[in-house]
Amino acid sequence: MNNLLKTYKFSNFKVIKGRGCYLHTSDNKKLLDFSAGVAVNSLGYNHPIVKKSLQDQIKTGITHLSGSQMHEFKTKLSKLLSENSNKGDVFFSNSGAESIEAALKIARNYGSKKGKDEIIAMTSSFHGRTIGALSVGSNKKYKTDIGPVPGKVKFCKFNDVSHLKKLVNKKTIAIIIEFIQGDGGINICSKTFAKAIKDICKSKKILLIGDEIQGGIGRTGKIFAYKHYGVNPDIITSAKGLGSGIPIGATIVKKYISKIISTGFHGSTFGGGMLQTRISYNVLKYINTKSFLNKVLINGKLLSRLLKKMHDNHIDKIVDTRCLGLMAGIEFRNNEIALKTYNKMAKNGLISTLIQDKIIRLTPPLIVSKNEINKATQIVAKSLRN
Ligand SMILES: Cc1ncc(COP(=O)(O)O)c(C=O)c1O
Repeated sequence: MNNLLKTYKFSNFKVIKGRGCYLHTSDNKKLLDFSAGVAVNSLGYNHPIVKKSLQDQIKTGITHLSGSQMHEFKTKLSKLLSENSNKGDVFFSNSGAESIEAALKIARNYGSKKGKDEIIAMTSSFHGRTIGALSVGSNKKYKTDIGPVPGKVKFCKFNDVSHLKKLVNKKTIAIIIEFIQGDGGINICSKTFAKAIKDICKSKKILLIGDEIQGGIGRTGKIFAYKHYGVNPDIITSAKGLGSGIPIGATIVKKYISKIISTGFHGSTFGGGMLQTRISYNVLKYINTKSFLNKVLINGKLLSRLLKKMHDNHIDKIVDTRCLGLMAGIEFRNNEIALKTYNKMAKNGLISTLIQDKIIRLTPPLIVSKNEINKATQIVAKSLRN
C-alpha cells in the first residue's frame, strides 16, 4: 500500500543503496543498473566527485539561494557549459522539461519580433511532460484528453529531408531535434538530415534547438550529441546527466538571441542553486576530458558490437539494435517478446528501461567497465534464451 499517484508501473523491489554501476535491494540482491535513473546517474553511485561536492556544499551551510544571488559555481558552470557548446548564455532550471520550456519561450519571443510563430519538431520526438514540452513531442499517448497544447507545431518525419523542406515556410521560427532520440526509440539522426537542417536554418534564418537532455553530457562519447554532426544549435537544452543525480536543467542560448531577453522575462525559484551548480560543475569538468569521452566511445563500440552479435543470434526475436556511445536500444519483433525479455533481465539482475512497448533501452552510467558491459549483454542473452 502507498499513496503514490499511479503515473508509473512501480518496481517490485526496494533499493537501499548504490555503488558504482550496481544497486542493492532490501532483499540483498545486487542489480547491474543499465538504466542509471534513465540516463541521469552519469557517474553511477557513490562516486567520489559527487560525494565530495555534497560534503563541500554542506560546509557552507547553504543549499539554496534566490535566482538573483550570485555565487561561485553558478558562474563557473555557466562558463563551462558555454565554452563547450555554442558560446551562449545559460538559464538554469531543475529538469529537462523546464529547460525545454525556456527554449520554446525564448524562441517564440525571438520569433514574435519577426512575425514568425511556427515550430518544426520531429516524429518520435520526446521533450518532456509539461504542457509546452508536449506541444513539440510527437507521442499522442502523452497528450490525450488534456485539451489543446500551445503553439503552432508541425511534425517532420525524422531523417526525411524532403518532408522537412515541405514543412519549412516564412513563418517557421525554430526546428527542434534530439540528434539521438531517446524515448522515441534510440533513433540516430543521419548525417544527411543534420546537414539539411543546418543549411535550411542558415538560409531561412531559423533557430536550431538541440535537445541534449538525454544524449548530452558525454552520453554518446561527445560532450553533446550534436557535435557528431558539425552543427551548432542556437539554443541547447541540457539536464539529466548534467547533475549525475542532482536535479538541474540548463538552456544555453546564443548571444544574438540572449541579448533580447530582459530582466523578469523568465525565472525559476530553484534554478541555479548552490548545491546543484557545484555538483554539476564538478561532474561536467570530470566528464569533459578527452580520456573520459574516448573511453565512452570505446565502451560504446563494444556495447554496439555485442548487441549486433546478439541480433545475429536472435534474428527471430530482435529486429534491430541501435547504439551511439553508451545509449543503446534493442528493438524486438513484438511487444510481448520485449516485455518478457525486459522482465527476465530484471529477474536475472539487469535493470533497463522499456520504451515504445517493444524497445529495450540501455543507458548505463558512463563509468561502466568492459566487464560490466560483457556481463550485461550476457544477461540479455540469457534472458532471451530461457
Ligand atoms: C530528450 C529529452 N528531452 C526532455 C526530457 C524531459 O526531461 P525531464 O523528465 O527531466 O523533464 C527527456 C526525459 O526523458 C528527454 O529524454
